[in-house]
Order: sequence, then structure tokens, then C-alpha cells
Amino acid sequence: MDDLKDKYLAAIANASDESALEDIRVQAVGKKGEVALKMRELGKMTPEERQIVGPKLNALKGEITSAIAAKKAGLADAALDERLRSEWLDVTLPGRERRQGTIHPVSQVTEEVSAIFADMGFSVAEGPRIDTDWYNFDALNIPSHHPARAEMDTFYMHRAAGDDRPPHVLRTHTSPVQIRTMEKTGAPLRIICPGGVYRADYDQTHTPMFHQVEGLAIDKDISMANLKWVLEEFFSAFFEVEGIKTRFRASHFPFTEPSAEVDIQCSWVDGQLRIGEGDGWMEVLGSGMVHPKVLQAAGVDPYEYQGFAFGMGIDRIAMLKYGIPDLRAFFDSDLRWLRHYGFASLDQPNLHGGLSR
Ligand code: DAH
Repeated sequence: MDDLKDKYLAAIANASDESALEDIRVQAVGKKGEVALKMRELGKMTPEERQIVGPKLNALKGEITSAIAAKKAGLADAALDERLRSEWLDVTLPGRERRQGTIHPVSQVTEEVSAIFADMGFSVAEGPRIDTDWYNFDALNIPSHHPARAEMDTFYMHRAAGDDRPPHVLRTHTSPVQIRTMEKTGAPLRIICPGGVYRADYDQTHTPMFHQVEGLAIDKDISMANLKWVLEEFFSAFFEVEGIKTRFRASHFPFTEPSAEVDIQCSWVDGQLRIGEGDGWMEVLGSGMVHPKVLQAAGVDPYEYQGFAFGMGIDRIAMLKYGIPDLRAFFDSDLRWLRHYGFASLDQPNLHGGLSR
């Protein structure tokens, strides 16, 4: 009996977890355990022997049972200590201020532009940023030998040897969306196409990725006069100055004929730019009457339809409206810049509530 006691108390002391303890309990004091087997032997003993051995066996059973209970409690304490050691929380740390993100000026201005043109019946169209050189150039009357291609500093997509798909480029302007939309919906139509464009260029006013918005209105009797009215409406609403004057200067783009570069009225007062007053001019966009070849490429009959198009830089008009000096900072993701120039997320621009409260 002393051997049994030593054997089980040692096993209990060495048990490393609850399941090991349970195994020991079954083996020692379970129904078919060693102590129970010994108890069965009591029947073969003389009454005198039984009186000595019986209590001893009972005591042994009690001792093993309580050793197991004590060990179990010890294991649970150790597990709790371990959890407390690993799962601590410093309740004395100062609480973290809840900060809200801001709307980037490019997003804000895109919304403003969309709200103004929506009011004039234009819907928003989109196209892919990676496009074929056909959509980006050929369909816009810029054949491969044309100098405008070289001027664009185009990013061409890498092509594996043997890849015979048409060459793809990162679109250099939003004009390809004109083609895609005319192909899809036909004429008449009135759309603007805002989005990112890419050119290999980098300085204070150029970044390799920037944003443009393209405008396109096609119908049977659209003229340059409509273009001028739409643009003046737009600039007055956008810069929130009534009656901004525009100046059209003859220019050249392959996709329009005639073409004009458009300036808006401005002045400089104490080094500060004032839009919509004075007798200075600032160039803001390119425009013209859509070239018949462009209509044809997009499946629109140039003998039946005509219209105007324009393209302008979203980042550029954002810089002018909100007095942001350096374009590169738009894409630096500097939180201090974003908090300073960003817009509150619930300030959705619309014409009734005011564009830039
Ligand atoms: N696609 C021209 C560019 O990125 C901008 C432009 C000029 C668009 C005249 C037009 C347009 O639609 O008529 O330089």
C-alpha cells in the first residue's frame, strides 16, 4: 500500500495538465483502478485483517483524491497567472483621440465639377486608365507619325516577346473616353469624363499622374457659341464669382477643328491671384469642335452630327480655387497637408447648398 501511495503521489506531482491528472485518477481510484482492485481483495480476508486493511485502503483513496484536487487547483492558478502575464492592458494610458479622415481636394473638385455639369444636363462617363494606343491616339486623329504623340511623354505598357495584342498605354488624357462613350451610346450625348491620366513629367506643376475632366456635347446643331456659354456658366459656378469672362485663342488639337485655348479673366493683387476680375488672363483649358474624323472613328455620322469638346486639368483648377501652390504635394500623402487642404467628409458639394461652404 505504501508503494501504491508513493507511486501515485509522485505521478500527481509530475502531472503537467488536467488531462494527465484525469488519467491518473482513473488508473488509481477509478472503478477499475488499482485501489478498487485491492478493495475487492478484502472479501477474501479474515475479519481481523479486514479491520486493519479496510480503513487503510479508504485512507489511501482519500489521500490520492485530495492530492489530485490540490494539484488541479494549482494548475488552474498557474494557467491564470500565465494569462495575466500575457494579456495585460495598461489602463493608465491616455485615451486615443478619434480622428476623421478628410476628402482630398481632387475628389472634392471632381464632385464640384460633376454637380455643376449635371445641372446643365451632362452625365459622368468613365473609361480605363490603361487603354490601347488606338483609343488614346489613332481614334482621336493622332496617327503614329503625328508629332503630338512624341509630345505626350507617353508611358507604354511592357509587352512580352510574341505578345501580339494591340499596344497599350497609360492614357495620356481623358479624350479616349469620348470615343468609348460615343461607340457605346451613339449621338446625341452630353458627358463629362473625369479621371486620372499619366505622362512622364515631374516638376512644381507636373506629376506623372494627374487628373483631367473631358467634356463632350454632340447633337445636330451644337456650335462654338454653346461651348462658350457652357464654359462661362461652369467657371462662374466653380469659382463662385458671377459673370467671369473667357477669352478664346485660336489653337490646334488633332481632335478638334476649329480649336481654341480658353483663358479666364483674372488679376494679381499684392501677389494674390483673383479670378473673375481685372484685365489679366489665365489659360485653363483646350477645346474645339469635334473633328469629323473623330466622330467617324467612334461610329457617329459627321454629316448628321457635330459638337464641342474640351479638356481641363482638375488638379490645376483645384490649385487655382483653393490656393494650393505645389502640385506634387497632392500625391505625397502627407497627413499635415491632407488635414490642411482636405474637406470635411459630410460637406458634399451641390449647387443649392453652396459648392465650398
Ligand atoms: N486632350 C487634351 C490634352 O490632354 C486636352 C483637350 C484639348 C481635350 C482640346 C479636348 C479638346 O477635348 O477639345 O492635352
